[in-house]
Amino acid sequence: MIRTMSLFPAGLVGLLLGVQAYGLAPQERVENFRLFDHRGASHELYYYSDMKAVVVMVQGNGCPIVRNALPRFKELRDEYAARGVQFLMLNSNLQDNRGSISQEAEEFGYDIPVLIDDSQIIGESLDLIRTGEVFVLDPKNWSVSYYGALDDRLTYENQKQEATEHYLKDALDNMLAGETVEVASTDALGCLINFPAKMQRAQHASISYSQEIAPMLADNCVACHRQGGIGPWAMTDYNMVRGFSLMIREVVRTKRMPPWHADPAHGTFSNDRSLTPEQTQTLVHWIEAGSPRGDGDDPLALIDHDWGEWAVHQPELGEPDYIIDIPAAEVPATGIVDYKYHYVANTVGKDVWVKAAEILPGDRGTLHHVITSFGQIETEGRRKGRLKRQGQAGLRGYVPGMTSQLFPEHTGVFLPADSTLEFQMHYTTNGKANVDESKLGIWIYDERPEHQIFSMILLNSKIRIPAHAKNHREFAERLIDKPAIIYNMLPHSHFRGKASEFSVVYPDGTKEVLLSVPNYDFNWQTTYELTEPKYVPAGTRLVHTTWWDNSAQNPANPDPTIEVTWGEQSFEEMLFGAVLMRYLTDEEVAEYEAQAKVQGVASSD
Ligand code: HEC
Repeated sequence: MIRTMSLFPAGLVGLLLGVQAYGLAPQERVENFRLFDHRGASHELYYYSDMKAVVVMVQGNGCPIVRNALPRFKELRDEYAARGVQFLMLNSNLQDNRGSISQEAEEFGYDIPVLIDDSQIIGESLDLIRTGEVFVLDPKNWSVSYYGALDDRLTYENQKQEATEHYLKDALDNMLAGETVEVASTDALGCLINFPAKMQRAQHASISYSQEIAPMLADNCVACHRQGGIGPWAMTDYNMVRGFSLMIREVVRTKRMPPWHADPAHGTFSNDRSLTPEQTQTLVHWIEAGSPRGDGDDPLALIDHDWGEWAVHQPELGEPDYIIDIPAAEVPATGIVDYKYHYVANTVGKDVWVKAAEILPGDRGTLHHVITSFGQIETEGRRKGRLKRQGQAGLRGYVPGMTSQLFPEHTGVFLPADSTLEFQMHYTTNGKANVDESKLGIWIYDERPEHQIFSMILLNSKIRIPAHAKNHREFAERLIDKPAIIYNMLPHSHFRGKASEFSVVYPDGTKEVLLSVPNYDFNWQTTYELTEPKYVPAGTRLVHTTWWDNSAQNPANPDPTIEVTWGEQSFEEMLFGAVLMRYLTDEEVAEYEAQAKVQGVASSD
């Protein structure tokens, strides 16, 4: 049955027919979103704005209509992908997850990304009704060009040998010919998707701001969104949050905020500031219910917005033993400020073992990150004036909201008296000209700690990123020659960086991903701190892979028309990773091996 244009508004027709939801309507505009797919890649809908059409099929495991429609969907993909049509699938099912979707994908040969809507908020806002539905979007204005069935071959109990109506194909042909789509909607068949929250809309008005929303924002946002912080507006009370609530909904749907870019499927990190799918759902439902104030006090209004001085989160450290001033930097009101490098002679006056280090930002509103290294300045040769790192670790840096500056217990970094400190400073402008005068504080051990900690650097200076490449991949690898534990990982590339992964290949050949950053953002130089340090036996290979987007679709790309090679400037590129680790004593190795054995037995049961 073809649904024709109705004289009645959709809601009214729904009432007359006694159906609850009506699905997407032709011409309706679809909002942007970002989701992981079943392989862990990250997709933003509006990224595909250079396509002539974006086709999405709603997928669900175990739905016969979806399984039967898939071969035809793939045929259409093969035919239309080269003509500028992007094909995606979307799963909003409560009962499916990445593991089960990957299994279904393997069994039925899906090679089209299945985007996983684990909080259901995207499916709810798209008014999805059934798996098997197909919708086609026009990237010119993100409106719905077609919504309904793929063709008329499948019905619930029967299938025809051949379709007689080819709705999706016809819609694409119309669009590619620049015509309006003749049949813009049909009735879709498939398995009904359960969106329990949709039937509980009324209850969303009683989600408690005081007990649920404000504490969530305090934990995940206020480190930056407070007075004088890097976040553009401070979450000082309910009124501010309510005013920005639609904007909050948008940045949460597109995963711009909170800034955390790791895939939760790999590793757990102590500095993780992301929202869980449940939290995302609660926050969005509260906003969609009109951001009600409700009863109770306002936890945000009670937060002390004073930043304090040194070691706020580790008061037991007290004042630093040494303070080194970083030269003042003028930050203009607007525009992009390229990384600034400052070289400062070490003023400690003797060789020391560093226990903790902290950057005290001069201007928290513009200072986006600091990376601190040290070494000797080259006095001759090609690299004259550059820093030769002394083969250990840096002294920790700064990112907004950073809480921990202590090196792990019994470990430290040796800082020689005659070294030079390098500060890589990144500022973002915020509409006001500022002067930043930051400082480095250092706490030292009285005597040499038990273990020396070091950064293993994985870089590849031979990278060549072709012009216009959307997903160019290169890697660097190193052998870990002694048993060690890994504490954290820092992936680093520049404007064209798109994704990054750290993995280990054990001596027996098995591979494990330690960190995947599917949505790398050069703005956020996050060090990912493993909650549990990772044991790696001698003979393990550490691999760092980076992907770049050198196309015009990458809004940060300064020039998509050139091949890009290695360089220190942001308009050049880097494949650089730092992995903080230390070697183990024989006793520790024995302990880790015994533990691994117990776990191995447990997991093979
Ligand atoms: C680590 C610091 C940091 C954290 C944590 C953080 N933000 Fe932000 N936020 C920023 C910065 C910086 C910007 C502006 C630039 C940008 O978009 O990157 C921003 C921008 C925003 C904006 C857009 C404002 C606008 O008008 O463009 C919203 C809304 C927002 N954040 C909400 C949140 C919410 C909600 C959370 C927590 C769930 C959060 N942020 C956590 C730093 C942070």
